[in-house]
Amino acid sequence: MDIQTVAWWKAIVESMNDGVLVIDRAGIVRTINPEYTNITGVTPDIIGKPLVAYRPGAQLPKTLIDGESRVGVYRKARGREYVVDMAPIIVDGEIIGAVSVCKSLNEVHTLTQELAKQQETVAELKKQMRSIYKVKYTFEDIISQDSKMRDLISIAKKTALTNLPILITGESGTGKELFAQSIHHTSLRTNEPFIAVNCSAIPVTSIENELFGYAEGAFVGALQGGKSGLFEMADGGTLFLDEIGDLSMDVQAKILRVLQEGSIRRIGEVVERKINVRIVAATHRDLRQMIAKDLFRSELFYRLNVVSIQIPSLRERKLDIPLIINSVTPQSYTVDEEVMNFLTSYDWPGNVRELRNVIDFAVCMTEEKRISIQHLPDFMRKHHTLYADETRIIPLHEAVDEAEKKILQHALQYVGATVQERLKLANELGISLATLYNKMKKYQLN
Ligand SMILES: Nc1ncnc2c1ncn2[C@@H]1O[C@H](COP(=O)(O)OP(=O)(O)O)[C@@H](O)[C@H]1O
Ligand SMILES: [Mg+2]
Repeated sequence: MDIQTVAWWKAIVESMNDGVLVIDRAGIVRTINPEYTNITGVTPDIIGKPLVAYRPGAQLPKTLIDGESRVGVYRKARGREYVVDMAPIIVDGEIIGAVSVCKSLNEVHTLTQELAKQQETVAELKKQMRSIYKVKYTFEDIISQDSKMRDLISIAKKTALTNLPILITGESGTGKELFAQSIHHTSLRTNEPFIAVNCSAIPVTSIENELFGYAEGAFVGALQGGKSGLFEMADGGTLFLDEIGDLSMDVQAKILRVLQEGSIRRIGEVVERKINVRIVAATHRDLRQMIAKDLFRSELFYRLNVVSIQIPSLRERKLDIPLIINSVTPQSYTVDEEVMNFLTSYDWPGNVRELRNVIDFAVCMTEEKRISIQHLPDFMRKHHTLYADETRIIPLHEAVDEAEKKILQHALQYVGATVQERLKLANELGISLATLYNKMKKYQLN
C-alpha cells in the first residue's frame, strides 16, 4: 500500500462512529480510533504494546487462534459498558490480525432510563385522567318505584354490558345523564374514561375541533403539536353526547361518518385514527319530529337509537315525588303534609332537578327541621296560593300571568331556538313573534 492509501484507510477508521481496535498476528495493538478511547477509556499509548498486557480479560487474541468471529460480547470496565464485535483479519487464507469494533451502552442505558421515567409519567397521567373522568352516579342512585322506570333501568343494566349505542330521551332534569353515567359504571369500560359533551354548550365554530381534534397549523391559533379531540380522549371508554338534537346537520354528518368508519381524522390531517368508543346520546327534543322537519339526519338517528331509553317526566310518575322528597330531605327533618300534597300535585317542568333544588332550598330556609309552605321558594309559594288555596282571592292579572307563563314554559320546551321555529310557535299561540319575545323576556324564559 502506498502512503496515500494508508492515510485514506486511517482517515476512514478515525472518522467511524464505533470504537475500533486492531491487533496484529502477534497480538500487538496496531491502531485504535478516537471513538475507542471515548467508549472504553483506553488511550492511544496502548499502540505498539501487547493487548493482553493492558487488558488481561481481552478475548480478541483468541480470535487470532480460532479464526472465529464473536458478535455482541458484553463488556464492563472502569464503569463503562459496551458491546464488542470481534473478527479475524484474513489475507490469502491466513490470519494476519484481528479487529474489535465496540458500541457504547451508556447512551442506550440513559435512553432506557429516560424511557422508563416517561412511561411512569404516562401511567400516572392515565390514572389521574381516569379519576377525572370517572362517573359519579350508579344505578343505585336512581330513585324510582315507577314500573316503567324499573323496566328502563333493567334494560339499561342489560345493555350496559354490550357495546350497543344507546339513545336516552326525556325532558330536562329527568335523569338522562344519571342513566348515562350508570351505564358506563356498569359496563366493562368502567375503568376507562367517561367523556360527557354537551353539544348545545360548545360554540358552533369550535365543535368540530373539540370533537375530532386538529393538526398543528390547521388554522390560525391552533395549538403547537395539534390537539386530540373528545372522541380520542374517550378511546376505550364511553362518549356521552348530551343534547345531540342541538347539533347542526353538518356536524351530524361528520359524527355519522365516525360511527360508520370506527375511526376519526383530525382536522387538517390525512391519517385515520382507529377509535374504540361506546356512544351514549341524549336529548330532550323529539328527534322523529326533527327528522320530519329536516333538522335531524335519520341515518344518525337509527344508528344511535339501537337501544332506546325514554324517561317519563316526573309528572307522569307522581308516586316518585314523595319518594324523592324523603330521600333528599335529611333524616331528622319532617315535611308538612300540605307541602307533600302540594309538591306531588305540582307540574315540575324542570323534573327531578327542579324538585331537588326546591327541597335543598327549603331545608336551608327552615330553622326547626320542619318544612312548611313558607319555606318553599317564592315562585312556588305564589303558585301554592294560586292553585292550592281555593278560598283565597288574588288579583286577576297575577293569575293570568301565572297561567300564561306556564303555557309558554311548556311550549318552549318543544321548539328550537331558531327564528323560524319560534315564528311557527307564535302562530300556533295566535300572537306575533314580537309579542312572543316580549312575553319570554317578561317571564324570563329562554
Ligand atoms: N330518578 C332520580 N333519582 C334521584 N335523582 C335523580 C333522578 N333523576 C334525576 N336525578 C337528579 O336530578 C338532577 C338532574 O339529572 P340529570 O341526569 O342531569 O338530568 P338530565 O340530564 O335529564 O337533564 C341530578 O342531580 C340527578 O342526580
Ligand atoms: Mg342533562
